[in-house]
Amino acid sequence: MRSTGFFFAIVFCMTLTAAIAAIDVSRGDSDASELKADRSDFNVLITGNLLSELKPCGCAEGLLGGLERRAAVISSFKKDKRFVLDTGTLLKKRSEQDLIKLSIIFQALSILQYDLVNLTEDDLEAAIELDLLATAFFELISSSEQADDHDIVTRFKKTATVKGKKLHITIITAKCHTEPFDNLDDYFDKQDDRLSLNILISDDCESSTMDYLEEVESIDLVICPGSTDEPVIIDKDRKKPLFVSTGKLGKYVGRLAVKIKGNELELDYSKIIIDEKLPEEPELTQLYKDYQQMVKEEKLLDRVTATPFPDGLTYLGSDTCKPCHSYEYKEWSKQKHAHAYKTLVDVGSQYDPECIQCHVVGFAIESGFINEKSDKGFRNVGCEFCHGPGSRHAEQVLSDEITPLTVDPKAACIKCHTPEHSPDYEAQEKEYRKKTVHWKEQKTSPNVQ
Ligand code: HEC
Ligand code: HEC
Ligand code: HEC
Ligand code: HEC
Repeated sequence: MRSTGFFFAIVFCMTLTAAIAAIDVSRGDSDASELKADRSDFNVLITGNLLSELKPCGCAEGLLGGLERRAAVISSFKKDKRFVLDTGTLLKKRSEQDLIKLSIIFQALSILQYDLVNLTEDDLEAAIELDLLATAFFELISSSEQADDHDIVTRFKKTATVKGKKLHITIITAKCHTEPFDNLDDYFDKQDDRLSLNILISDDCESSTMDYLEEVESIDLVICPGSTDEPVIIDKDRKKPLFVSTGKLGKYVGRLAVKIKGNELELDYSKIIIDEKLPEEPELTQLYKDYQQMVKEEKLLDRVTATPFPDGLTYLGSDTCKPCHSYEYKEWSKQKHAHAYKTLVDVGSQYDPECIQCHVVGFAIESGFINEKSDKGFRNVGCEFCHGPGSRHAEQVLSDEITPLTVDPKAACIKCHTPEHSPDYEAQEKEYRKKTVHWKEQKTSPNVQ
C-alpha cells in the first residue's frame, strides 16, 4: 500500500539555480456541475487542513463542506485523469473526540479513493497511537521525524498516462520552516525529454522561502499552509513555481488543472465549492452515523468535567419558572429555542459535546445539563441560558423581595449565534430579536443595562 521508493533522507528545501520560463496560469473557479464541460488533460485535486471538520453542523442553510459531499467532486473526474492529494493537518486538536474523528477520516479518505495523504507531525503521532497506518487504502508521505520508523518516506512518485504520453508525477513533503535549504532539485524529476509534474508540500511560505523556492528549477507547484477557508494562489506574481494553498475545513477542493501543450505543462489552479447542491455519498453518510454511534458509546458527554458556579448559584430548569411566569413560558414554548434539543435528536447529534453546548442549558456546569438522563427542564435554549441561573431568584417564593436576575439576556445571543453557526444573525439582529419576544412589556430590571 505504501510508496516503494527507498527514500527517507531529509529533504532540504533549497538549491540555487536559474529560474526558468513562467507557466501559463489562468483562473476559473467552478461549481462541480460545470466540470463536465472541462477540457483539461489531467487534474490534481488538493485538500488539506480539514481540522476535524467531518461535516458542517447544519445549524443554518448554505454551510459549505462535508466529506459526504466531497465524493461528488472527486468522482466528477475520471479515475485515470485525476490524482487526489490531501496535505494533512487532519485534526484541530488531540482530544478523545478528535481521535475518534481521525479513525473516521482515515476510512473516509479511503472511500474517497485518495491517492496520497501527507501526514503532519501531529497527524502521524495520532495515527500511530490509534494504529491506523495499516488501515489506509492510500499512500502516505510525511516529513515528521517519526516517519522513518514507520517506513513512511518523504517522496512519492507515480506515472500517469495522459493523452498517450507518460506524465511523471513527483510529490515531496518538506519542512522548509525548520530545516536548512539544500539540494531539493536533485529529488525531483527533471529530465528534459519527458513530461514531469513536480509538487512540493511545504510547511512554510514566508516570502524568503518563496524567493528560494523560485530558484529551484524543477518545481512546478508549491502547496503552502495558507489560512483562508478557500484555496488560493498565494502570490499571483509568482508563476513558476505556482504557490497555492488548500483552504481549510473541507469547504472547497483545490484543483490543479493540467493541460499538455507539446512538451510543456500548462497549469491552472482554481477552487471547487462543496455546497448543498452536491449529493451525499451514502457510504460516507453511513460513516458519519457510525461516528455518532461511537460518540454515544464512548459517553463523551459524561467525560466533560462539570464545574459549579463560583457564587453557589444553580440552574433549576425552565419548568421551575413556569408557575410564576406562565405567560413568558407559553410564548417561549412556541419559539424555536424551545425545540433546540429535539433538533439535535432529529439529526442524531444529542450525544455530541461539540453540539450540545448551544442546544441546552448549563452544559459543563454541575447543576445544568449533563446528558440525556438529566432533567428535561435543562434541554433546549431555556430561560436560564439567557437570564442566568435562577436559584436565588426563584427560591425566595415567600420573601417580599425577590432577588433579581443580574444577567443581561440580550448579551447571551452571540454566545450561540456565532458567524459559523448563524451566519445571518449579525446582519439581521433586529429580526432575530423580534422573533424571541416572550414578555408582555419590557421593564428592564434595575440591575441590567
Ligand atoms: C456555537 C453554538 C452552536 C453549536 C456548537 C452548534 N449549534 Fe446548532 N444551532 C446554533 C444556532 C444559533 C442555531 C440557529 C441558527 C439560525 O437560525 O440562525 C442552530 C441551529 C441548528 C439546527 C437547526 C437548523 C434548521 O434547519 O433550523 C441544527 C440541525 C443544528 N443546529 C445542529 C447542530 C449540530 C449537529 C451541531 C454539532 C455538530 C450543532 N448544531 C452545534 C448554535 C450552535
Ligand atoms: C444557548 C444558545 C443560544 C442562545 C443564547 C440564543 N440562541 Fe437563538 N437559537 C439557538 C438555537 C440552537 C436555535 C435553533 C433552534 C432550533 O431550530 O432547533 C436558535 C434559533 C433562534 C431563532 C430562530 C431562527 C429561525 O430560523 O427562525 C431566533 C430568531 C433566535 N434564535 C434568536 C436569538 C436571540 C435574539 C437570542 C438572544 C436574546 C438568542 N437567539 C440566543 C441557540 C441560541
Ligand atoms: C434567548 C434568550 C432568552 C430566553 C431563552 C428566555 N428569555 Fe426571557 N428575556 C430575554 C430578553 C432578551 C428579554 C428582554 C429583556 C430586556 O430587553 O432587557 C427577556 C425578558 C423576559 C422577562 C421580562 C423582563 C422584564 O424586564 O420585565 C421575563 C419575566 C422573562 N424574560 C422570563 C423568561 C422565562 C420564564 C423564560 C423561559 C420560559 C425566558 N425568559 C426565556 C431573553 C430570553
Ligand atoms: C416563585 C415565583 C417565581 C419563580 C419560580 C420565578 N420567578 Fe422570575 N419573577 C418573579 C417575580 C415575582 C418577579 C418580579 C415581578 C415582575 O417583575 O414580574 C420576577 C421577575 C423576573 C424577571 C424580571 C426581573 C429580573 O429579575 O430580571 C425575570 C427575567 C425572571 N423573573 C426570570 C425568571 C426565570 C428565568 C425563572 C426560572 C429560573 C424565574 N424567573 C422563576 C417570580 C418568580
